[in-house]
Amino acid sequence: MTRLLFKSDLDRADLWTAALKKHKPDLEVEVWPLRAPEPAGDRSAIDYALVWKPPAGVLKTLPNLKAIFSLGAGIDHLFGDPELPGDVPVVRMVERGLTAGMTEYVVMQVLYHHRRMLDYRAQQRAGVWDELSFVAPWDRKVGILGLGQLGGDAAEKLALLGLDVAGWSRTPKEIPGVASYAGAAGLEAFLARSQILVCLLPLTEETRGILGAETFAKLPRGACVINVGRGEHLVEADLLEALESGQIDSATLDVFAREPLPADSPFWSHERIVVTPHVASITVPDTAAEAVVENIRRIERGEAPRNVVDRDRGY
Ligand code: NAP
Ligand code: GLV
Repeated sequence: MTRLLFKSDLDRADLWTAALKKHKPDLEVEVWPLRAPEPAGDRSAIDYALVWKPPAGVLKTLPNLKAIFSLGAGIDHLFGDPELPGDVPVVRMVERGLTAGMTEYVVMQVLYHHRRMLDYRAQQRAGVWDELSFVAPWDRKVGILGLGQLGGDAAEKLALLGLDVAGWSRTPKEIPGVASYAGAAGLEAFLARSQILVCLLPLTEETRGILGAETFAKLPRGACVINVGRGEHLVEADLLEALESGQIDSATLDVFAREPLPADSPFWSHERIVVTPHVASITVPDTAAEAVVENIRRIERGEAPRNVVDRDRGY
């Protein structure tokens, strides 16, 4: 018998249990009750944990764990645990529902800024009928920080729409229609061309604060910033200052250093900022369960699971 411990911070355990059992009927799913500080059952019987933001110190109390599956693509919610078991593979969430959702959101927001929708919204509120200047898609330079599972797909789809797309990653990439810039040496030239900058990096010590004054100063004047990575990528005060000076024209923010975004945050009412509540993409139970079960099968066959986090790189 294989037993999986499920923990989310949303009340969707029934949906997840059904999805997991659809793909592996003999899997026993133990649900860690919502808001309970600890799981209830026999910890030595747990083979796998599928979790989002487990309280620090709990995973190490599961002595027979074979893998820790993150419910999301980001794994920063796990690496904050100083007692995270060092000998158990941590697996990122890679599944087509999450990728499709992120691509939809990034395409939507890039086009929103490209087609000056914030300006048209302001005109609508003022009852103004006026045609604003238009930039052809091939003249609009979009830059994606992070060309991994999510950034790579979004970049490819934006290029298919005819936009002039580049991406930045640690290692060079070959994606149809997307110019590749890599490493510290490639960053400056990449930023210099990015009129719309999208952050889809993982949060690591190297990427924390990357959306700050130094980066903003290297973008073309009047650039737009879309942050769908993590809140800690952004230096919030630097963004407000860059918006004030006109160096940055507008932004879309989906993730924040403090979530929920505090009621007194100036972002809520800023005319040039679009705010969404960390919903750029959401793991889809059915397709995600399929990916988790596929990895459980690999482990049961004695193979290494796919999408294991490299702890040295931090993602
Ligand atoms: P991924 O496949 O691991 O891709 C990460 C990309 O970032 C890779 O291209 C990697 O380069 C690049 N990278 C990492 N560190 C770098 C550095 N120091 N310099 C340059 N490039 C660097 O991750 P993913 O699945 O695409 O997910 C990305 C992030 O999106 C997640 O970690 C999460 O924080 C965020 N996310 C947000 C939401 C939301 O709803 N807002 C939803 C899902 C995910 P290499 O390819 O060369 O390794
Ligand atoms: C969501 O933020 C995720 O990491 O999947």
